[in-house]
Amino acid sequence: MTKHYGGPGGRAVLEGAGGQIATGEFVVVVGRSGSGKSTLLNLLGGLDRPTAGTVHFAGESLFELPDAAMTRLRRRRMGVIFQSYNLIDTLTVAENLRLPLALNALPEDGLVGQWLARVGLSDYEDAWPDRLSGGEQQRVAVARALIHGPDLILADEPTGNLDLDNARAVVELLDDLCRRYGRTLVMVTHSREVAGRADRLLTIRDARLATLETGP
Ligand SMILES: Nc1ncnc2c1ncn2[C@@H]1O[C@H](COP(=O)(O)OP(=O)(O)OP(=O)(O)O)[C@@H](O)[C@H]1O
Ligand SMILES: [Mg+2]
Repeated sequence: MTKHYGGPGGRAVLEGAGGQIATGEFVVVVGRSGSGKSTLLNLLGGLDRPTAGTVHFAGESLFELPDAAMTRLRRRRMGVIFQSYNLIDTLTVAENLRLPLALNALPEDGLVGQWLARVGLSDYEDAWPDRLSGGEQQRVAVARALIHGPDLILADEPTGNLDLDNARAVVELLDDLCRRYGRTLVMVTHSREVAGRADRLLTIRDARLATLETGP
């Protein structure tokens, strides 16, 4: 897969990037600022189109799907977490969590309460997101990314705005939940400590992807 900004003759951000990510794997993407980490995540999530090549996900070639089918697939089978939490401040915590269920026409079935308990925020159903600490907001974002049972979680520097303790807590939670429920997790991070938890490291250097095996 190749991504050039500014058309086929434009600057190469990713050149011939290829590979597979296994179900349930925790992959960390590293590389210097501007190397293309967010671009890679956006391509994996179908939010941006490659200049050449494609992404296969759930048996489909993402960029060959009609827009509506692509949106449906993304909504149903992916969860996204951003550095800046991206909760909707005009909705309560519980309402934020109901969104992915509503968008996918899934029944609530006590899921909101269950997921708030899993991220340690049981008493926060009626809280407003902008009244929560950064760590709390990111835990809500973790619950929102997982509540509809997606196969793939994409997280772009999810701890970038958190202090060390909160960053650790959020990564541990995300890693534990993804492993417990067999979700695939692809995370961009600058933290060596976080990278150390991953099954595999993908390094972007000079628009190329290098794989580094980690783990025990
Ligand atoms: N929409 C765009 N149009 C043109 N160039 C872009 C666009 N988005 C990103 N770029 C460029 O592509 C390169 C890779 O950007 P990207 O955001 O993927 O980097 P990154 O590795 O996520 O960096 P950071 O660690 O700072 O978040 C950068 O040089 C950036 O300026
Ligand atoms: Mg980025």
